[in-house]
Amino acid sequence: MQINGATTLVTGANRGLGQVYARELVSRGAAKVYGAARNPAAVTEPGVTPVALDITDPGRVAQVAGECADVSLLVNNAGVLKYSTFIGAPDLAAARAEMEVNYFGTLSMCRAFAPVVAANGGGAIVNMLSVTSFYTNPLDASYGASKAAAWSLTNGIRVELAHNGTLVIGVHAGFIDTDMAALTDAPKVSPESVAQQVFDAVEAGQIEVLADERSRFVKASLSRDHELIYPDVQAFWDAAIKATG
Ligand SMILES: NC(=O)c1ccc[n+]([C@@H]2O[C@H](COP(=O)([O-])OP(=O)(O)OC[C@H]3O[C@@H](n4cnc5c(N)ncnc54)[C@H](OP(=O)(O)O)[C@@H]3O)[C@@H](O)[C@H]2O)c1
Repeated sequence: MQINGATTLVTGANRGLGQVYARELVSRGAAKVYGAARNPAAVTEPGVTPVALDITDPGRVAQVAGECADVSLLVNNAGVLKYSTFIGAPDLAAARAEMEVNYFGTLSMCRAFAPVVAANGGGAIVNMLSVTSFYTNPLDASYGASKAAAWSLTNGIRVELAHNGTLVIGVHAGFIDTDMAALTDAPKVSPESVAQQVFDAVEAGQIEVLADERSRFVKASLSRDHELIYPDVQAFWDAAIKATG
């Protein structure tokens, strides 16, 4: 599909990657860019129309699908990362919060907007996933589980919605230079690079974006993950345990 002239909606558009997605859509000539956020007053990007939306509120998700019935491109960007381990975390609160936003919130948006984008010509749904959809690191283990669930969701709805002519794109990246990755000084891809790759994919009809070297390496290594991926993860975890005593 062409972005020029399309009506689009980005979740989590108030900051980070979502703000950059919205900016890139405006610069590519989208007719309308709805910028959805829990606090719509924080959506300040020029040319973007603020919409109040917490994606974990199914009633509000349904309302927004009605209010924004002209959308043909949905970008499910909103997400949370709690840096929570499976075993060491004090309780299930972080794991539940990540699943609630990253999986159930995204699922809820897909369900509400699938008929909307279909009615507007087929359109496209972009789901912002992660390299951690592909493998698990103890440091952000429950986040990885939620992104693996969202990857499964993305592959499932691509099949389910093909008859509507809806393009469904999964986007994977390692660290992106936003607040979410502020704690690490590891290499990070810029949000501008991710946004450009994603909207190039939308226009080219491509179903997957591997936005950095890490996600390309991990995806290519999946059939040998216990040789090529997990030994490094184990070494990293062992070093972290040693450093913290
Ligand atoms: N940064 C990375 O290293 C990285 C790597 C791979 C994938 N990702 C994914 O990329 C996406 C964007 O992340 P980011 O890097 O831009 O992180 P960020 O700077 O922390 O921004 C997260 C965005 O999601 C919004 N959000 C959180 N919970 C929400 C909810 N219940 N309803 C609506 N909006 C909600 C936040 O809104 P508030 O301002 O209200 O909190 C914020 O706008 C996420 O899906 C993330 O998992 C990030």
